Amino acid sequence: MSKIGILGAGSWGTALSIVLGKNGHDVMLWSILKEEVELLNTHREHIEKLPGSPLPDNVEVTSDLEDTCKDKDLLVFAVASPYVRSTAKLAAEFIPQGQLIVNVAKGIEESTLDTLSDILKEELPGREIAVLSGPSHAEEVSKCIPTTVVVGTRKKKNAEYIQSIFMNDFFRVYTSPDVIGIELGGSLKNVIALAAGVVDGLGYGDNTKAALMTRGIAEITRLGLAMGGKAETFSGLSGVGDLIVTCTSTHSRNWNAGYLIGKGKNMKEAMDEVKQVVEGVYSAKAADKLAKKYGVSMPIVEQITQVLFENKSAMDAVADLFSRDKRQENSSLEWEE
Ligand SMILES: NC(=O)c1ccc[n+]([C@@H]2O[C@H](COP(=O)([O-])OP(=O)(O)OC[C@H]3O[C@@H](n4cnc5c(N)ncnc54)[C@H](O)[C@@H]3O)[C@@H](O)[C@H]2O)c1
Repeated sequence: MSKIGILGAGSWGTALSIVLGKNGHDVMLWSILKEEVELLNTHREHIEKLPGSPLPDNVEVTSDLEDTCKDKDLLVFAVASPYVRSTAKLAAEFIPQGQLIVNVAKGIEESTLDTLSDILKEELPGREIAVLSGPSHAEEVSKCIPTTVVVGTRKKKNAEYIQSIFMNDFFRVYTSPDVIGIELGGSLKNVIALAAGVVDGLGYGDNTKAALMTRGIAEITRLGLAMGGKAETFSGLSGVGDLIVTCTSTHSRNWNAGYLIGKGKNMKEAMDEVKQVVEGVYSAKAADKLAKKYGVSMPIVEQITQVLFENKSAMDAVADLFSRDKRQENSSLEWEE
């Protein structure tokens, strides 16, 4: 049995507290939002985000950040991506040197183009940072529906430790040393999911969505390789796995926001209606900047960024994608002379 602190008690932090609680660990679940702590303590379940999934008895919900970070075998960062830096700054004084931390949020900071593990390394020097990602809707994990994820760290022993903490008969955890590949897959698929929602909202068919997903993972892979990720990771759980689940499920807030945009709403109206942080919107701008920085072609990212931030119509974006120059599907394949 290990002692674990989870920072962030939204859908994902709460679902993971259920997994860890069921695994027999002592869990402290922290939120900065007083009303969230109160709701969880009153009902012993997140009735707004995960109704019908009670917290195990060994999960304590608290607004005490020091208690949550102190004397823990593992800390889990589960706040939405725009709050990772501010939460790390707040918690820094309570987190000891050498502490093992696993970040489960997905995103890229738009202003710095930092990945979330970069942010944690910067704000929490001297701590060991890992990431966990993969096709994993909180709504399903909290109901013990079989799910697979991957945990990434540079040190194998840390990855295997986190694997052993989380793994059980419905939550299967793989390990990988490719931290940047895992993070980029998890963040950039949100942008493609927004685009998938747009084409569904426009009323296009399965062909269009399959095209978007396939060409989308090709874009993610191109950028990921340029940034040091490994090709295998983009065809794995945190790459194509997460892309499939996010683009094909109505649980996805990114797909939902895109769907509303496809139906004619603008970005602000869509985000207001979804009522949660739509991380793909932030990641889209970051991805567009990264594509330019690394000289990588990302036409879907470019078009969705124009739809989100430049009021381009979704119809025109699709038309522009289809009128691009003719090209070979995979430029690394060679022809016979
Ligand atoms: N929901 C899922 O199925 C799922 C699955 C895998 C990964 N993730 C990732 O996990 C992260 C969290 O997602 P979520 O679904 O739990 O989001 P959420 O919107 O349900 O919850 C976000 C939580 O962040 C915390 N928060 C809000 N404002 C804050 C602030 N100012 N400072 C600090 N903390 C604050 C709160 O606890 C809030 O509940 C995201 O990056 C998401 O991509 C989510």
